Amino acid sequence: MKKVLITGGCGFIGVNLVRALNAVGGYEISILDNESLGVRADLGNFDGKFVHGDVTDLALVRKLAKGVDVVVHLAAHTRVIESIENPAQNFTDNVIGTFHLLEACREANVIRFISASTGGAILGDAPAPVHEELVPQPLSAYGASKLAAEGYCSAYTASYGLPCASLRFSNIYGPRSYHKDSVVARFLKRILAGQELVIYGDGSQIRDYLYIDDLAAGIVKAIESDCVGTYQLGAGRPTTLNELLDIMKEVVPAEKMPPIQYKSARKGEVHTTWCNISKAKDAFGFDPTTELADGVRNTWNWFVDRQGA
Ligand SMILES: NC(=O)c1ccc[n+]([C@@H]2O[C@H](COP(=O)([O-])OP(=O)(O)OC[C@H]3O[C@@H](n4cnc5c(N)ncnc54)[C@H](O)[C@@H]3O)[C@@H](O)[C@H]2O)c1
Repeated sequence: MKKVLITGGCGFIGVNLVRALNAVGGYEISILDNESLGVRADLGNFDGKFVHGDVTDLALVRKLAKGVDVVVHLAAHTRVIESIENPAQNFTDNVIGTFHLLEACREANVIRFISASTGGAILGDAPAPVHEELVPQPLSAYGASKLAAEGYCSAYTASYGLPCASLRFSNIYGPRSYHKDSVVARFLKRILAGQELVIYGDGSQIRDYLYIDDLAAGIVKAIESDCVGTYQLGAGRPTTLNELLDIMKEVVPAEKMPPIQYKSARKGEVHTTWCNISKAKDAFGFDPTTELADGVRNTWNWFVDRQGA
């Protein structure tokens, strides 16, 4: 059995990763989460060890890292706008939290450290498709904190031989994302509430939507590989907001589809970002296969079931 500690394991990506690891088998999972967003109940019938606590608590993470083989670090302050309003909190959670965890892993001789990072927020307005060789230029405190975390991961690999991989997730969507404010979750919640959908600009903005099961499978592959450094994980496919809406119109019953309102574009919003995933494909066989329409349909069905529950 491989012992895996997942920080932020009650969050959207965490609960799906736990399911993916359990489906593969051979992992003994423990979770650290301060339940500021995801909560213990979101894990369902999880039978591993759950610890309510904060990743910035050095004494606690020292204790938890002992005897662990792999750490998957997902816990973070994830909201870009809030990070601009309160950069200090974001710095504490994301930079100090990552640093304390790396220290604990170094002392405990952990053999693998996987860190959740982001392409969009780190690279800013870079020309698409983005890739790992571009010069980072964060536009928010959130992006800066993730870049700092990547820097510490790189340093802990080089200085202390702790194999760290920073995985830059694109726009992740899928079941169990109810508390998220990303576009798929937000639109599906508004559709269910009968509220109009608001699009800022003409809907031509481009994103890279990656289905959660493809991401979780990619994280498992990264855990099992010996890759270090940064890797973009996306679908590797550009999709405009209007194309996403067209798919939602196919998936959602016509009578449930609310009106769509176009408002003027928001200042500072990146227009186009999607990523080249060749490096992750070559390094650990990352292979996202879910068609956007299938992923949106699964997500819609989960949201409908949740509402019915
Ligand atoms: N979802 C995406 O599209 C996306 C894209 C790029 C990067 N990421 C990164 O992936 C990771 C997971 O994202 P998610 O979508 O699951 O987010 P999420 O907000 O659903 O989950 C984060 C979890 O971490 C916990 N947490 C927050 N601060 C903590 C702290 N200081 N100590 C302990 N627990 C804490 C929260 O309670 C929550 O359960 C984050 O690091 C995020 O920045 C996500």
